[in-house]
Amino acid sequence: MTIGYTVGQLRAAVADAVRAPSLHNTQPWRFRLRDGGIEIAVDPLRGLPATDPTGWGARIACGAALYNLRLALAVAGTPATVRLRPYPADPDVVARLVPDVPRRPTPIEQGLYGAIAHRFSNRAPFWPDPVPAEARWRLGEAARAEQCWLELVIGASAVNALAEVARSAHRVLERDPAYVAERVEWIRSEPAPDGVPAAAGGPHSEPQDLLPQRGFGGRNRAPGRDFEPEPLVAVLGTPGNTGTDQVVAGQALQRVLLTATDAGLGVSMLSQPIEVPGAREALRLSLGRFGTPQMVMRIGYGQPGRATPRRPVDEVLDLPVVPA
Ligand SMILES: Cc1cc2nc3c(=O)[nH]c(=O)nc-3n(C[C@H](O)[C@H](O)[C@H](O)COP(=O)(O)O)c2cc1C
Repeated sequence: MTIGYTVGQLRAAVADAVRAPSLHNTQPWRFRLRDGGIEIAVDPLRGLPATDPTGWGARIACGAALYNLRLALAVAGTPATVRLRPYPADPDVVARLVPDVPRRPTPIEQGLYGAIAHRFSNRAPFWPDPVPAEARWRLGEAARAEQCWLELVIGASAVNALAEVARSAHRVLERDPAYVAERVEWIRSEPAPDGVPAAAGGPHSEPQDLLPQRGFGGRNRAPGRDFEPEPLVAVLGTPGNTGTDQVVAGQALQRVLLTATDAGLGVSMLSQPIEVPGAREALRLSLGRFGTPQMVMRIGYGQPGRATPRRPVDEVLDLPVVPA
């Protein structure tokens, strides 16, 4: 068994980890090697005080990056044993990964790893084709395999009820000037290593839209190209809602997203109903679920798109300074 990971292994795995999604593409993570273990921590300098005052979104993003790290290490034949939030005195460190017994990657790990580079948030309207039962089942299994639940919201009245909660949360957030300023600050109309490219923002909202789109610049809608009238909406949730539960949710989110990508499905995320406490509670009650909703997703067959930029690996590594 390897005694510890090397800097080379850290770099290679981090290149995959940073492909994870994050609120406004802030990429709120740092990585380091400590006593042979790879550690991932929330980067407090890349927080969103108005949008994410509790740090929920940063922990979800770090959990998603952690899932990519796990896959990358497993596919390289050097799988990890993971300890979540290993230092009670430093809860920003979300996980520590140490080498486990080497083994060959499973076909599932290989398939999901292959999806990392192709995943992106698809905010455009989806085709009306329904998501087949087998793919729905795979998405649920992906969440369960990571100790979370995934509720598929079925039927027009249930989707309408969720949409109403989401729209009212969206209105609450848009009334807060600090929240709006943060959203606008992270829109990128020129090439940039972080933030949401305006071209990835999806079409401008229109009054007939069922689900609220966060405004990231967007483009005009092709005539007749409305959003799908009966979207497949899924809610990911956890039994509890501690910081550790949120890291667990981030891993499950990434597994669901990669499973969807692997199945040829597009996904966009809607977190307005998670960010407004009253809306989150209304969502929980409407699902009749024990536990806490952590993310809402719209899933379907979409047009091809492209991955959004990330900062270079060196910018997110904390390596010891070697004296000259
Ligand atoms: C915690 C969290 C919340 C998010 N909320 C939204 C949202 O409400 N609306 C949206 O369009 N995208 C949302 N996203 C997606 C991010 O904007 C997206 O991941 C980021 O811009 C990087 O782009 P990519 O997913 O294409 O890699 C969210 C992502 C995370 C991790």
